Amino acid sequence: MNLCVALDLPTAKENLKLARELKEYNIWLKVGFRTYIRDGREFINELKSINPNFKIFLDLKLYDIPNTMVDASEEIAKLGVDMFNIHASAGEEAMRMVMNRLSKYKNRPLVLAVTALTSFNNSAFKKIYGEDIDTRAKEFAKMSYSNGLDGVVCSAFESKAIKEETDNSFLTLCPAIRPFGEDAGDQKRVATIEFAKEAKVDFPVIGRPIYKDSNPAKKVEEILERMEK
Ligand code: C5P
Repeated sequence: MNLCVALDLPTAKENLKLARELKEYNIWLKVGFRTYIRDGREFINELKSINPNFKIFLDLKLYDIPNTMVDASEEIAKLGVDMFNIHASAGEEAMRMVMNRLSKYKNRPLVLAVTALTSFNNSAFKKIYGEDIDTRAKEFAKMSYSNGLDGVVCSAFESKAIKEETDNSFLTLCPAIRPFGEDAGDQKRVATIEFAKEAKVDFPVIGRPIYKDSNPAKKVEEILERMEK
Protein backbone atom coordinates (compact mmCIF):
# COMPACT_ATOMS: atom_id res chain seq x y z
CA MET A 1 0.00 0.00 0.00
CA ASN A 2 1.13 3.52 -0.81
CA LEU A 3 -0.22 6.37 1.25
CA CYS A 4 -1.44 9.25 -0.91
CA VAL A 5 -2.00 12.54 0.91
CA ALA A 6 -4.50 14.94 -0.67
CA LEU A 7 -3.08 18.48 -0.79
CA ASP A 8 -6.48 20.13 -0.49
CA LEU A 9 -5.59 23.20 1.55
CA PRO A 10 -6.78 26.52 0.09
CA THR A 11 -3.45 28.11 -0.81
CA ALA A 12 -0.11 27.06 -2.27
CA LYS A 13 1.59 28.35 0.85
CA GLU A 14 -0.42 26.07 3.14
CA ASN A 15 0.00 23.05 0.87
CA LEU A 16 3.75 23.59 0.67
CA LYS A 17 3.94 23.97 4.44
CA LEU A 18 2.17 20.61 4.80
CA ALA A 19 4.53 19.01 2.26
CA ARG A 20 7.52 20.34 4.21
CA GLU A 21 6.13 18.88 7.43
CA LEU A 22 5.88 15.51 5.67
CA LYS A 23 9.16 15.67 3.83
CA GLU A 24 10.84 12.77 5.59
CA TYR A 25 8.24 10.31 4.35
CA ASN A 26 8.30 8.72 0.93
CA ILE A 27 4.65 9.24 0.24
CA TRP A 28 2.40 10.17 -2.69
CA LEU A 29 0.85 13.62 -2.89
CA LYS A 30 -2.41 14.28 -4.71
CA VAL A 31 -2.61 17.58 -6.58
CA GLY A 32 -6.12 18.43 -7.69
CA PHE A 33 -7.19 20.74 -10.51
CA ARG A 34 -7.95 23.73 -8.32
CA THR A 35 -4.37 23.74 -7.13
CA TYR A 36 -2.95 22.90 -10.52
CA ILE A 37 -4.92 25.61 -12.32
CA ARG A 38 -3.78 28.18 -9.80
CA ASP A 39 -0.26 27.09 -8.95
CA GLY A 40 0.74 25.13 -12.04
CA ARG A 41 3.93 23.40 -12.90
CA GLU A 42 5.95 25.55 -10.53
CA PHE A 43 4.04 24.02 -7.62
CA ILE A 44 4.87 20.48 -8.83
CA ASN A 45 8.53 21.46 -9.09
CA GLU A 46 8.47 22.92 -5.59
CA LEU A 47 7.05 19.69 -4.18
CA LYS A 48 9.81 17.72 -5.88
CA SER A 49 12.41 20.10 -4.51
CA ILE A 50 11.10 19.58 -0.96
CA ASN A 51 11.64 15.82 -1.37
CA PRO A 52 12.67 14.39 -4.75
CA ASN A 53 11.21 11.06 -3.64
CA PHE A 54 7.72 12.47 -3.25
CA LYS A 55 5.50 10.85 -5.87
CA ILE A 56 2.93 13.12 -7.46
CA PHE A 57 -0.58 12.12 -8.50
CA LEU A 58 -2.08 14.80 -10.73
CA ASP A 59 -5.83 14.44 -10.30
CA LEU A 60 -7.11 16.24 -13.43
CA LYS A 61 -9.66 13.62 -14.60
CA LEU A 62 -9.21 14.20 -18.34
CA TYR A 63 -12.31 13.86 -20.50
CA ASP A 64 -12.31 15.04 -24.12
CA ILE A 65 -11.98 13.68 -27.66
CA PRO A 66 -9.20 11.08 -27.89
CA ASN A 67 -6.79 13.29 -29.85
CA THR A 68 -7.00 16.09 -27.29
CA MET A 69 -6.63 13.66 -24.40
CA VAL A 70 -3.55 12.11 -25.95
CA ASP A 71 -1.84 15.47 -26.41
CA ALA A 72 -2.71 16.50 -22.85
CA SER A 73 -1.44 13.16 -21.51
CA GLU A 74 1.88 13.71 -23.21
CA GLU A 75 2.20 17.16 -21.64
CA ILE A 76 1.46 15.56 -18.26
CA ALA A 77 4.17 12.95 -18.86
CA LYS A 78 6.62 15.77 -19.66
CA LEU A 79 5.76 17.44 -16.35
CA GLY A 80 7.40 14.48 -14.62
CA VAL A 81 4.44 13.53 -12.46
CA ASP A 82 4.10 9.89 -11.45
CA MET A 83 0.38 9.26 -11.95
CA PHE A 84 -2.68 10.96 -13.46
CA ASN A 85 -6.22 10.02 -14.33
CA ILE A 86 -8.80 10.11 -17.11
CA HIS A 87 -12.53 9.43 -17.13
CA ALA A 88 -13.34 5.87 -18.17
CA SER A 89 -16.41 7.20 -19.96
CA ALA A 90 -14.11 8.95 -22.47
CA GLY A 91 -14.06 5.48 -24.04
CA GLU A 92 -11.84 2.69 -25.25
CA GLU A 93 -10.32 4.53 -28.17
CA ALA A 94 -9.16 7.35 -25.90
CA MET A 95 -7.71 4.81 -23.45
CA ARG A 96 -5.81 2.92 -26.13
CA MET A 97 -4.49 6.07 -27.77
CA VAL A 98 -3.33 7.56 -24.46
CA MET A 99 -1.49 4.38 -23.46
CA ASN A 100 0.01 4.06 -26.91
CA ARG A 101 1.36 7.61 -26.91
CA LEU A 102 2.81 7.21 -23.41
CA SER A 103 4.53 3.94 -24.27
CA LYS A 104 7.48 5.84 -25.71
CA TYR A 105 8.30 7.25 -22.26
CA LYS A 106 10.63 5.02 -20.27
CA ASN A 107 9.28 6.28 -16.97
CA ARG A 108 5.76 7.02 -18.03
CA PRO A 109 3.26 8.06 -15.37
CA LEU A 110 0.72 5.50 -14.19
CA VAL A 111 -2.71 6.09 -15.70
CA LEU A 112 -5.89 5.45 -13.73
CA ALA A 113 -9.50 5.70 -14.85
CA VAL A 114 -12.29 7.30 -12.86
CA THR A 115 -15.23 4.89 -12.93
CA ALA A 116 -18.15 6.72 -11.29
CA LEU A 117 -18.00 10.04 -9.50
CA THR A 118 -19.15 9.45 -5.95
CA SER A 119 -21.21 12.63 -6.04
CA PHE A 120 -23.80 10.77 -8.13
CA ASN A 121 -26.58 8.87 -6.50
CA ASN A 122 -27.88 5.91 -8.44
CA SER A 123 -30.78 7.67 -10.14
CA ALA A 124 -28.72 10.66 -11.26
CA PHE A 125 -26.06 8.27 -12.55
CA LYS A 126 -28.63 6.17 -14.40
CA LYS A 127 -30.00 9.25 -16.13
CA ILE A 128 -26.63 9.78 -17.79
CA TYR A 129 -25.22 6.29 -18.19
CA GLY A 130 -28.46 4.25 -18.44
CA GLU A 131 -27.30 1.69 -15.89
CA ASP A 132 -26.86 1.20 -12.16
CA ILE A 133 -23.63 2.56 -10.69
CA ASP A 134 -22.35 -0.83 -9.49
CA THR A 135 -22.83 -2.54 -12.83
CA ARG A 136 -21.36 0.29 -14.89
CA ALA A 137 -18.43 0.92 -12.54
CA LYS A 138 -17.42 -2.73 -12.80
CA GLU A 139 -17.72 -2.60 -16.61
CA PHE A 140 -15.63 0.58 -16.69
CA ALA A 141 -12.97 -1.15 -14.59
CA LYS A 142 -12.86 -4.17 -16.93
CA MET A 143 -12.71 -1.89 -19.95
CA SER A 144 -9.84 0.10 -18.43
CA TYR A 145 -7.96 -3.10 -17.67
CA SER A 146 -8.38 -4.55 -21.13
CA ASN A 147 -7.24 -1.33 -22.77
CA GLY A 148 -3.98 -1.23 -20.87
CA LEU A 149 -4.61 1.26 -18.08
CA ASP A 150 -2.83 0.73 -14.79
CA GLY A 151 -5.82 0.92 -12.49
CA VAL A 152 -8.93 2.75 -11.37
CA VAL A 153 -10.17 5.25 -8.85
CA CYS A 154 -12.87 3.50 -6.87
CA SER A 155 -14.34 3.02 -3.44
CA ALA A 156 -12.48 0.75 -1.00
CA PHE A 157 -15.74 -1.21 -0.93
CA GLU A 158 -15.30 -2.08 -4.63
CA SER A 159 -11.55 -2.72 -4.61
CA LYS A 160 -11.62 -6.46 -3.99
CA ALA A 161 -14.33 -7.20 -6.57
CA ILE A 162 -12.52 -5.12 -9.20
CA LYS A 163 -9.32 -7.04 -8.62
CA GLU A 164 -11.21 -10.31 -8.85
CA GLU A 165 -12.71 -9.26 -12.19
CA THR A 166 -9.41 -7.94 -13.57
CA ASP A 167 -6.10 -8.80 -11.95
CA ASN A 168 -4.47 -8.45 -8.57
CA SER A 169 -1.89 -6.12 -10.09
CA PHE A 170 -4.58 -3.78 -11.46
CA LEU A 171 -4.27 -0.79 -9.15
CA THR A 172 -7.04 0.62 -6.98
CA LEU A 173 -6.84 4.14 -5.61
CA CYS A 174 -9.49 4.82 -3.01
CA PRO A 175 -10.60 8.03 -1.29
CA ALA A 176 -12.95 8.20 1.69
CA ILE A 177 -10.48 6.56 4.05
CA ARG A 178 -10.68 7.41 7.71
CA PRO A 179 -7.58 5.63 9.03
CA PHE A 180 -8.75 5.21 12.60
CA GLY A 181 -12.46 5.96 12.19
CA GLU A 182 -12.12 9.77 12.26
CA ASP A 183 -14.95 12.17 11.36
CA ALA A 184 -16.34 11.26 7.94
CA GLY A 185 -17.07 14.89 6.94
CA ASP A 186 -19.06 14.82 3.68
CA GLN A 187 -17.95 11.28 2.74
CA LYS A 188 -20.82 8.78 2.74
CA ARG A 189 -19.16 5.40 3.17
CA VAL A 190 -15.75 5.48 4.79
CA ALA A 191 -13.21 2.71 5.30
CA THR A 192 -10.46 2.32 7.90
CA ILE A 193 -6.86 1.38 7.04
CA GLU A 194 -7.59 -2.11 8.31
CA PHE A 195 -10.48 -2.43 5.89
CA ALA A 196 -8.45 -0.95 3.01
CA LYS A 197 -5.70 -3.48 3.64
CA GLU A 198 -8.17 -6.31 3.64
CA ALA A 199 -9.68 -4.94 0.39
CA LYS A 200 -6.21 -4.84 -1.24
CA VAL A 201 -6.36 -1.10 -1.83
CA ASP A 202 -3.09 0.01 -3.44
CA PHE A 203 -3.43 3.75 -2.79
CA PRO A 204 -5.53 4.98 0.12
CA VAL A 205 -6.10 8.73 -0.45
CA ILE A 206 -6.32 10.68 2.78
CA GLY A 207 -6.88 14.40 3.12
CA ARG A 208 -8.65 15.91 6.10
CA PRO A 209 -7.66 13.33 8.73
CA ILE A 210 -4.05 14.36 8.04
CA TYR A 211 -4.10 18.07 7.26
CA LYS A 212 -6.67 18.90 9.92
CA ASP A 213 -4.68 17.09 12.59
CA SER A 214 -2.65 19.25 14.96
CA ASN A 215 0.41 17.13 14.10
CA PRO A 216 0.16 15.89 10.49
CA ALA A 217 3.62 14.27 10.55
CA LYS A 218 2.75 12.19 13.60
CA LYS A 219 -0.53 11.20 11.98
CA VAL A 220 1.25 10.07 8.81
CA GLU A 221 3.70 8.10 10.92
CA GLU A 222 0.82 6.32 12.69
CA ILE A 223 -0.89 5.56 9.39
CA LEU A 224 2.30 4.17 7.84
CA GLU A 225 2.84 2.01 10.92
CA ARG A 226 -0.69 0.67 10.71
CA MET A 227 -0.28 0.01 7.00
CA GLU A 228 2.80 -2.11 7.62
CA LYS A 229 1.41 -4.14 10.52
O1 C5P B 1 -10.40 14.88 3.04
P1 C5P B 1 -10.66 13.53 2.44
O2 C5P B 1 -9.79 12.44 3.05
O3 C5P B 1 -12.12 13.17 2.44
O4 C5P B 1 -10.18 13.73 0.93
C1 C5P B 1 -10.38 12.79 -0.06
C2 C5P B 1 -9.81 13.32 -1.35
O5 C5P B 1 -10.20 12.45 -2.40
C3 C5P B 1 -10.31 14.70 -1.76
O6 C5P B 1 -9.26 15.34 -2.49
C4 C5P B 1 -11.48 14.41 -2.68
O7 C5P B 1 -11.70 15.41 -3.63
C5 C5P B 1 -10.99 13.14 -3.37
N1 C5P B 1 -12.02 12.29 -3.93
C6 C5P B 1 -13.08 11.79 -3.20
N2 C5P B 1 -14.01 10.98 -3.79
C7 C5P B 1 -13.88 10.64 -5.07
C8 C5P B 1 -12.82 11.12 -5.82
C9 C5P B 1 -11.90 11.95 -5.22
O8 C5P B 1 -13.18 12.07 -2.02
N3 C5P B 1 -14.73 9.81 -5.61
